[in-house]
Amino acid sequence: MNVIEFFKAQRPQPPCARPTVTLSYAQSLDGSIAVRSDAPLTLSCPESKYFTHALRSLHDAILVGIGTVLADDPKLTARRVGGPHPRPVVLDTHLRFPDSARLLEHPRGVIIATGPHPPQTRVRALEERGATVLPLPLKGERVDLHALLDALAAMNLCSLMVEGGMRVLTAFLRARLVDWAAITLTPHFIGGIHALSEPTTSFTTPPHHADAFPYVQDWQGEPVGRDLVIWGKMAWPG
Ligand SMILES: NC(=O)c1ccc[n+]([C@@H]2O[C@H](COP(=O)([O-])OP(=O)(O)OC[C@H]3O[C@@H](n4cnc5c(N)ncnc54)[C@H](OP(=O)(O)O)[C@@H]3O)[C@@H](O)[C@H]2O)c1
Repeated sequence: MNVIEFFKAQRPQPPCARPTVTLSYAQSLDGSIAVRSDAPLTLSCPESKYFTHALRSLHDAILVGIGTVLADDPKLTARRVGGPHPRPVVLDTHLRFPDSARLLEHPRGVIIATGPHPPQTRVRALEERGATVLPLPLKGERVDLHALLDALAAMNLCSLMVEGGMRVLTAFLRARLVDWAAITLTPHFIGGIHALSEPTTSFTTPPHHADAFPYVQDWQGEPVGRDLVIWGKMAWPG
């Protein structure tokens, strides 16, 4: 079974208690996802970009953090495969979402998941442009991911592809909210910013073995153009 058939077979149907979450991003051999956090970097080859769009089309929603919106201004569509397009979701505690963002042109309307008391003038301005502003409780200083997943399930969005960036990938892994991973490895050495900003497991004494950290169980791999896609189910130690 190839990676697309695999994800097609896993796709949940509504209703759901919470969306299944697929972590999916591209990284170089040294684990870089960008050169700097304020500038886009195309890592994937054309074939693996096509794969990413095919995978997007198998999810109900796709999520990035506001850092990625500000750095890359992504469209988050599945245009290379002709759709269907997942509903875009942005984590943005302080409603920093810019008026110039291309996501405001998205055919399905972007959901901006924000803090509990967003400024109403800003909410109105974004909603007039077709966005849905979703006020949510905070956990610590940022949008509570459990509350977000509950809200998406209530909207019958039962599969969520999380594409980045660094802080968002780390937050989903630390919260153990990832079901599947599909990571594109490109054969480059970049030395840029890495996929994760901190360890995925809290500890007082550093563990001696990698198995103390979450991993992709019984992973499969598939060459896609000049890249390699690794995918499988997430496993959580302890
Ligand atoms: N290679 C790839 O596949 C790929 C994919 C995507 C992005 N990227 C790269 O990733 C970089 C951006 O990464 P980044 O870490 O700066 O930004 P990010 O992960 O896209 O966004 C992080 C921001 O999201 C907001 N946020 C709200 N709730 C959150 C929560 N519960 N957990 C985590 N974040 C939450 C926070 O800002 P507030 O506190 O203001 O809400 C946080 O600073 C860019 O360089 C981009 O090119 C690469």
